[in-house]
Amino acid sequence: MQGAALDRGRSPGWPALLGPLVVPAGVVTLRPPKLRDGSVWSMCRLRDRNYLQRWEPTSMGTWESRNAKLAWPAQWSALRSIARRGDGLPFVITVDGVFAGQLTVGNVVRGALRSAWVGYWVTEQRAGGGVATAAVALAVDHCFGPVGLHRLEATVRPENEPSVRVLEKSGFRREGLFERYLDVAGAWRDHYVYGTTVEDHPEGLVSELVRSGRARRS
Ligand code: ACO
Repeated sequence: MQGAALDRGRSPGWPALLGPLVVPAGVVTLRPPKLRDGSVWSMCRLRDRNYLQRWEPTSMGTWESRNAKLAWPAQWSALRSIARRGDGLPFVITVDGVFAGQLTVGNVVRGALRSAWVGYWVTEQRAGGGVATAAVALAVDHCFGPVGLHRLEATVRPENEPSVRVLEKSGFRREGLFERYLDVAGAWRDHYVYGTTVEDHPEGLVSELVRSGRARRS
């Protein structure tokens, strides 16, 4: 893993630039969100509504209002505060230098648990080319390295086959089913819970991905 990671008190491993990693879709990197991401973020989210909305937690307001360019500064500011407090690591995924989605490490718990969850989305245009798998690999190695976590988990609807596939390619174990777990697209949906710990990746997930031929370092 290449990248700059600053150790800052309560937020080890933040801010960070992770990658690059080359997959069929292009060159994948992770970076902190910027205030000026608003236009492209909104354009992607409004364009990809049908593809994204069925997998995302139900929220206040319409899709248009929540994903308008004007909604970004508040989201960006909230993400920045979370990162500065060390409660999460919000990344923008870029492909060939262009905004292509987001990956968020959330609910960082330290102490004896040292755990967090991971969630992600990739624009429909860039889907199917290994982007999410590369992003997860970069984030997992970073969390188990500079961030100092021991466990990561992810919850996913059983119907979300691409995301289930991403987690299984990334060595996450299916640990169970949370029934009626989360209000997604207007109803309480069952979710699989997947988990992985640092012991699962002795050589690092990026190295595993490279060795399996799914990615290469540039
Ligand atoms: N059935 C089975 N497998 C499928 C299907 C399908 N219908 N569609 C795609 N796949 C496979 C692909 O072939 C690929 O596997 P392979 O490499 O073995 O061929 C895998 O699913 C996808 O891997 P990537 O290309 O790395 O993933 P991608 O960049 O396409 O992103 C993602 C996947 C993030 C799920 C994207 O589809 C997306 O953003 N969807 C909408 C939002 C979403 O669902 N986010 C995840 C929520 S759950 C969570 O965050 C933990």
